[in-house]
Amino acid sequence: ANDLLLKNIDSNDKYPLNYEELEQTAKENLDAGSFGYIRSSAGGEETYRKNTNSFQKYSIVPRFLTDVSTLNTEVTILGHTYPHPLFIAPVGVNKIAHADGEIAVAKAASKFGYPYIQSTVSSYSIEEIASATEGSSKWFQLYWSQNKEIAFSMVKRAETAGYEAIVLTVDTVMLGWREEDVRNQFSPLKRGLGQGNYSTDPVFMAALPDQTEGSIIKSMIENIYHPTLNWTDIEELRERTDLPILLKGILHPEDAKIAIEKGLDGIIVSNHGGRQLDGVIASIDALPEIVEVVKGKIPVLFDSGVRRGSDAVKALALGATAVCIGRPFVWGLANGGQDGVERVLENFLQETKVSISLSGARNLAEVRKLKIVRN
Ligand code: FNR
Repeated sequence: ANDLLLKNIDSNDKYPLNYEELEQTAKENLDAGSFGYIRSSAGGEETYRKNTNSFQKYSIVPRFLTDVSTLNTEVTILGHTYPHPLFIAPVGVNKIAHADGEIAVAKAASKFGYPYIQSTVSSYSIEEIASATEGSSKWFQLYWSQNKEIAFSMVKRAETAGYEAIVLTVDTVMLGWREEDVRNQFSPLKRGLGQGNYSTDPVFMAALPDQTEGSIIKSMIENIYHPTLNWTDIEELRERTDLPILLKGILHPEDAKIAIEKGLDGIIVSNHGGRQLDGVIASIDALPEIVEVVKGKIPVLFDSGVRRGSDAVKALALGATAVCIGRPFVWGLANGGQDGVERVLENFLQETKVSISLSGARNLAEVRKLKIVRN
């Protein structure tokens, strides 16, 4: 970590380091619609602000004199061992940030050992990303589909491509109320940017009335939103794949309990970065109670509002098994393609490692035992 600090200091290269600088630089690089889509959230953005502000309510109480000269950040989740507990959150339509889109992100993730969670609505397909990042860890985020066979087809494709898990997002049965996008008249799906997995899907394509771009986009939009989604669908998904299934977007401890009863393999505590229902609990505030009911039976991943290494340490200390990074990497992509993402991910990883060591922990079991106080 000290080497990286020195490299950054000596580089003569003034690139954005913290979240505010990353966002500001991206604003200069992107059109207003794309920038607004990535930055903004639902409603009055109360939850969006709470997500980051709430981290300040939790303080790490460090231990010293523990010999922190060696650090092991390895974590085993659902039978796979990963080098550290930082993941890439599923973010769709990356081509709005940079022409190389998800390929650039997945390659950068692979370089720094972040498992990559690919969005259903990514601008590149499962197969394209798989062949660009062979041998690296990937999970597939699923949006349910009005026509279930499309969802099952995508799951099958992820299985065939060697993805390690399915992440079903449960908080997006319809789109949140996003005023910035209304103001900018911006819809990435209407621009066809999420076609990657759809226009390459045999079941989706076979169900189209005709194969024009207009009909692909119309059918994508009709299929993605599915207000009927319920626990019976989850049971059916369970029967259709041998891959582990995690539910993303869990905020209520009762839903976490049901997920365990229904045989789900994990959950991701998340409020979608405040982009779905405004006014919901900050993700970090939802975490402790969920961890308490889960009692270690299944992994509990976490996202929403993570901006620095110390945020990641707080989430891990409050019981998260791993932490997903969202908007910060998207700004990195907007600011410099793969290289921009690499900078964000390398710095984030090092800041996390420094934060673990300076809190006195030498591995994740010790991070879990750190004392956290609520101020
Ligand atoms: C998202 N997120 C998201 N989640 C998901 O399950 N499928 C998706 O396709 C997307 N797409 C998406 C696009 C953009 C532009 C953003 C910013 C977010 C939500 C994402 O996985 C994660 O929950 C949030 O990004 C976490 O909030 P922060 O930390 O980025 O503020």
